[in-house]
Amino acid sequence: MVYKNYINGRWSSALSEETFVKRNPANKEERIGEFPLSGTRDVNLACQAAKEALPKWRALPIPVRGEIMKRFGDLLTEHKEDLAIIETKEMGKVLKETRGDVQEGIDTAYYAFGEARRFFGHTVPSELPDKLCLTFRRPIGVAGLISPWNFPVAIPCWKLVPALLSGNTVVFKPSREAPLSATRVIELLVEAGIPGGVVNLVHGSGTTVGEAILSHPDIGVVSFTGSVETGSRIAEVCGKTLKRVSLELGGKNGQIVLSDANLDLALEGVLWGAFGTTGQRCTATSRLILEEKIYDKFFAMLVDRAEKITIGNGLNEKMQMGPLVSEKQLAKVKEYVKIGKNEGARLVIGGEQYTEGECAKGYFFAPTIFADVTPEMRIAKEEIFGPVLSVIKVKDLNEAIKVINNVSYGLSSSIYTQDINKALKARERIEAGITYINGPTIGAECHLPFGGVKNTGNGHREGGWTVYEIFTEIQTVYIDYSGKLQKAQIDTKMG
Ligand code: UN1
Repeated sequence: MVYKNYINGRWSSALSEETFVKRNPANKEERIGEFPLSGTRDVNLACQAAKEALPKWRALPIPVRGEIMKRFGDLLTEHKEDLAIIETKEMGKVLKETRGDVQEGIDTAYYAFGEARRFFGHTVPSELPDKLCLTFRRPIGVAGLISPWNFPVAIPCWKLVPALLSGNTVVFKPSREAPLSATRVIELLVEAGIPGGVVNLVHGSGTTVGEAILSHPDIGVVSFTGSVETGSRIAEVCGKTLKRVSLELGGKNGQIVLSDANLDLALEGVLWGAFGTTGQRCTATSRLILEEKIYDKFFAMLVDRAEKITIGNGLNEKMQMGPLVSEKQLAKVKEYVKIGKNEGARLVIGGEQYTEGECAKGYFFAPTIFADVTPEMRIAKEEIFGPVLSVIKVKDLNEAIKVINNVSYGLSSSIYTQDINKALKARERIEAGITYINGPTIGAECHLPFGGVKNTGNGHREGGWTVYEIFTEIQTVYIDYSGKLQKAQIDTKMG
């Protein structure tokens, strides 16, 4: 099947007619579809359409746009199962997780429906009599949205829904590893009532379509989720034309387990955090930081369970872990296993491509655990984006906090302890945008701010009410009803 771009209300091929093929990572022989390999000219058309559609769209009362988001949420609900199946075929994660991914899109749409009726500004006292001060939130203009493949419905929805609700029009480039989910999302937005030109979908590569979006003069804000390397390139290019940029980049998230913790609970947490989505989450647990008193015991419990994880095609409900998304990711994970071994970490399980039976046709990788990892090793500091867990031994809470902070990232973090004092101290000292107490590093809910500190981003938070700050400008309004010229700072003193 050949899929298209959606530009100015029409489904169309790339002007060049070029395409790329997306395959199933669980079975390379299975084609998901052929998608436009678009160029700069396609992006230009999309930007022009978005610019032309802007005045009418932004003039609609926000609750009217909210109604469309409500219908979009209803449609996602109706199609939850078929979308989940598409996602699993397209990027591999197991059905239970892809259903959760679609649910996150649904939650985001319904949250927006509510936010539409509470798009608050401030009313603020004036320093002068007979004068009113107010703020309003207004759209920025055309938003350029660039999304990753690991949450093929949820992350596009995190970006599309608030951008559109706020009154922006959109040019959207999804990942080449998840083009079909993105296409379905746009189809449903259109079915929900988004007018032609308001949302534009342009498939293709980051180096062509992405770059064209970044440098286009009509784009006012760019939202990107992906690697640090690309994020910093985006900030650099957008800096030249003073575009607002929201970056959600990598992570090297740690889970601390103290000796007083409920170890069974901590075990469930790390298994889910490290091996869920085959470790391909920005929030994945890639470091396990164990207090020495329980190190041996917990390590044995962990290995025992990790070895039993079922690996296979995510469409099979019995499987707990699907494939990596691509050959490139597979090569990267293999490379990190080599790096870990060379720097002296002890590979305890996994470390290899998993090729049992049908899995030989895809990019499966065995759950991998390294022991004797020290905080300075590369496998303790760099994002791997695969099912690889580095286990680090520490003396106590103080050392655990030092270790957890010893990375350039700061997205998610977790601590398991039953000691409230220790939990609260950790909360205060951990350098991360998200901290879970007695929960794994994954599990963000759509109505809370999502994002991180240090190289994880540039200070913005997608999700929750804070995402609306990314997609709006504040207008400050002064209304003077005194009937005379009143001078702020000058006429303000008594007498
Ligand atoms: C990501 O890791 O790329 O917290 C996003 C979670 C999800 C979102 C993660 N709800 O695991």
